[in-house]
Amino acid sequence: MIIKSEEEISQMRASALLVSKTLAMVASELQPSITTMTLDKRIHQFICDHQAIPSFLNYHGYPYSSCISLNDVVVHGFPNDQPLKEGDVIAIDVGVILNEWHGDHAYTFCLGKPAAAIANLIRVTKESLYKGLEKAIAGNRVGDISYAIQEHTEKKHGYGVVRELVGHGLGKNLHEDPQVPNYGKRGAGPKLKEGLVLAIEPMINLGKKEVYTDKDGWTVRTKDAKVSVHFEHDVCVRKDKAEILSDYFPIEEAERLNQHLFPSAPVQFF
Ligand code: MF3
Ligand code: CO
Repeated sequence: MIIKSEEEISQMRASALLVSKTLAMVASELQPSITTMTLDKRIHQFICDHQAIPSFLNYHGYPYSSCISLNDVVVHGFPNDQPLKEGDVIAIDVGVILNEWHGDHAYTFCLGKPAAAIANLIRVTKESLYKGLEKAIAGNRVGDISYAIQEHTEKKHGYGVVRELVGHGLGKNLHEDPQVPNYGKRGAGPKLKEGLVLAIEPMINLGKKEVYTDKDGWTVRTKDAKVSVHFEHDVCVRKDKAEILSDYFPIEEAERLNQHLFPSAPVQFF
């Protein structure tokens, strides 16, 4: 576990906020008929225009600058030339390297009015992210975060919590220790220390928890073909209250301005 200094944390805040700004830009561009390939190109350009590097591009051979995961795709969806359509559930995950420090976070949108079941899944997954990250306090353990997410999503709402993919430490590397599962036991796992930065990222399925990877080697889908939702924040462990380095406010603001497309949005927590 690599603990960051205050100076390093402020640099990581800038990286996380650049991802937030990128996701806000995307939120303002979402509309039926735009393709996810076009969105990926805009994301790439936006990141480069801000003196940063799209960190997903070429990461273990990943071929794009963003992951755009529609409907039954859980994560790591490839952008493609299919136009978006009303009712699509669109999880967008973006990573940057700015001044050597990684930002990595994600948000799920629904284009048009979602069915009640989908709106609830989006709301509860987002809530679970906040319930988890509230436990990112020095002296707690990783399992406290995991447990909070699993309780809210699986126990309370009966959703499927993906087991194969987890959150992670973040820093000069996209993936650092510790792993942060979205399921687990209170009081278990590594102890959290002030200055540890985590990417906490619940991946929650409307139906069962089982997933599989497509022939492309990346695209993770639900086995039952039901919708999956993904939210991710970059969070610094603090003594009294977790510090969220990324920011959903500009994204939610863009959703609001694009509101004819997002009639159910946004659910705001801070
Ligand atoms: N948030 C994802 C993760 O932490 C994004 C990685 S996508 C990849 O694994 F393309 F970079 F692999
Ligand atoms: Co991540």
